[in-house]
Amino acid sequence: MDRNKLEKKAKGKLQKQICQVVLDHFEKQYTAELRDAWSSVRDVLTSPWCWQHAVLLNRFSQNPGLESSLAEQGYHPAFPAALPYLPAALRCYSRTAPGRFPAQKHQPGRLKDYYLLNAASLLPVLALEVKDGEAVLDLCAAPGGKSVAILQCACPGHFHCNEYDDLRSRWLEQTIESFIPAPLINLITVSKLDGRQIGDLQPEFYDKVLVDAPCSNDRSWLFSADPQQAVLRLMQRKELSSLQFQLLRSAVQALRPGGSLVYSTCTLSRAENSDVINLILNSCRNVMPVDLSGMARGVSQEFTFLSGMQQHELLVLPEKGRAWGPMYVAKLKKVSST
Ligand SMILES: C[S@@+](CC[C@H](N)C(=O)[O-])C[C@H]1O[C@@H](n2cnc3c(N)ncnc32)[C@H](O)[C@@H]1O
Repeated sequence: MDRNKLEKKAKGKLQKQICQVVLDHFEKQYTAELRDAWSSVRDVLTSPWCWQHAVLLNRFSQNPGLESSLAEQGYHPAFPAALPYLPAALRCYSRTAPGRFPAQKHQPGRLKDYYLLNAASLLPVLALEVKDGEAVLDLCAAPGGKSVAILQCACPGHFHCNEYDDLRSRWLEQTIESFIPAPLINLITVSKLDGRQIGDLQPEFYDKVLVDAPCSNDRSWLFSADPQQAVLRLMQRKELSSLQFQLLRSAVQALRPGGSLVYSTCTLSRAENSDVINLILNSCRNVMPVDLSGMARGVSQEFTFLSGMQQHELLVLPEKGRAWGPMYVAKLKKVSST
């Protein structure tokens, strides 16, 4: 079948799967929240054939031919080399053309060479600025993309990856085994705790905490296969803000004074993004916002950000040719114990 026919077939197949009840709900909410920006974001979110996938190389595996085969297929480094936030060991490739580099199968005893991801998923990791030797907590870690990315950037002294859901926790363990070699794995603890309890269990223990929170996940909700389940999810959506706030409060508690946290979601929803961060800033007097505008300027060639955000937050808006996001990122610092 020629390329046009294949594309048409893919379009037809994927178009049918859009869940109208979710699209209608988003249409109303995001027209109010994003105004003019929403229609182009909606065009990307509802057109999966134009979605892009970045390729994050695994610094622990050896595949000498990989970078040249990526270059042959039009991939280039996703981030400018001079970016102050960019650790030298982090190598991520992207291309403007849609499509996906072939995924690698899990092979026992062999490390994978790369992880496929939405390039915007690396922004929370870059914002966290993990340094060698630090104690790091990834509070909501499965399937483990950001945990793997953190370990491409630095070698923490202790790395705690937590995931509440049993099945997803096993997926997380498998991801770690597939990407991280034996000596480094000993620095990693995987737990299955409710992230809301970790602040009480390990108060003031961590230098850095990532809260990549459970959220509405706009991309996947738009393609919900079961409309009844979609309606239920939309009704329960308000409860997510409360869970996100409690996870953040636990993260603040788990941070040592002087430590910092990054909060991220893959939704455009203000209630799960800025509103949750504002609530934490208003209720925890020992937490201060950290300016991310330098990082945003540094990566502005690759990402489109919603304008008018505060300096401690970013919202990546998917755009044709830069179909990354949605991804909300905010950074906070704990300045004292209370
Ligand atoms: C957005 S996903 C995390 C993605 C992951 N950070 C990555 O990059 O691969 C959010 C995760 O939080 C988990 N979760 C939900 N409630 C939780 C809780 N109370 N404590 C910890 N994790 C929770 C979900 O099961 C889900 O796997």
